[in-house]
Amino acid sequence: MAKEKTGKMHFWDAFWDLRVDECPCDIHFCDWLEKEKLKNKTIFHFGTGGHHIVGIRTAENGSGNCVLGITAAPQEYETFIKLAIERPEVEKTYKTFFGDIYSLDARLLPDFDVVTLFHLCEFRTEKNDEYGALTDREVTDLLTKKTRSGGYIVFYTKSFAFDTAEKVIAKWEKEMPVEKVGMFETLLVYRKK
Ligand SMILES: C[S@@+](CC[C@H](N)C(=O)[O-])C[C@H]1O[C@@H](n2cnc3c(N)ncnc32)[C@H](O)[C@@H]1O
Repeated sequence: MAKEKTGKMHFWDAFWDLRVDECPCDIHFCDWLEKEKLKNKTIFHFGTGGHHIVGIRTAENGSGNCVLGITAAPQEYETFIKLAIERPEVEKTYKTFFGDIYSLDARLLPDFDVVTLFHLCEFRTEKNDEYGALTDREVTDLLTKKTRSGGYIVFYTKSFAFDTAEKVIAKWEKEMPVEKVGMFETLLVYRKK
């Protein structure tokens, strides 16, 4: 029988504007995509911020890459709606949805060439347990399965929760068909075999 669901969604009641000194992961990610000359790729991005820089820069740089972002902050979703209305040329290749990454349903997702998991272990608490949400490892596995062979899974080593994420990653890399590629700036890059 399905577990009775209680509690509200564990959403993020905040707004994150671009703060490159404090949190450079999105800028480093855009730089990495350009350095690797990745073109026409599909990207899943965990934690868009209210600035939506990954979607904007991807749309502006002529790479042909497209991005599906997720935010759990209503305030950030509002700025996405504003962006989409004001800049339909960006919205063509950049969509964001509001939701809890720990409630992802694999059936609703396509396959991706690149997945970011920058904020792994930062926000998941017992509040997510109240509605039977996925664990950090489960979300990593789900998105690994949704990564195409030869595609990339990228982590952020300066995350405040990276000491916890590192433990998840250590088990995951032994048990899933992935291999470490190396570091780019603050990012730790893996490839799906
Ligand atoms: C500190 S901000 C960083 C934003 C951006 N990556 C950056 O570095 O500028 C954390 C991001 O994670 C998102 N987030 C927090 N909890 C989440 C969850 N459960 N599911 C999806 N996104 C979540 C927030 O909405 C926010 O966009």
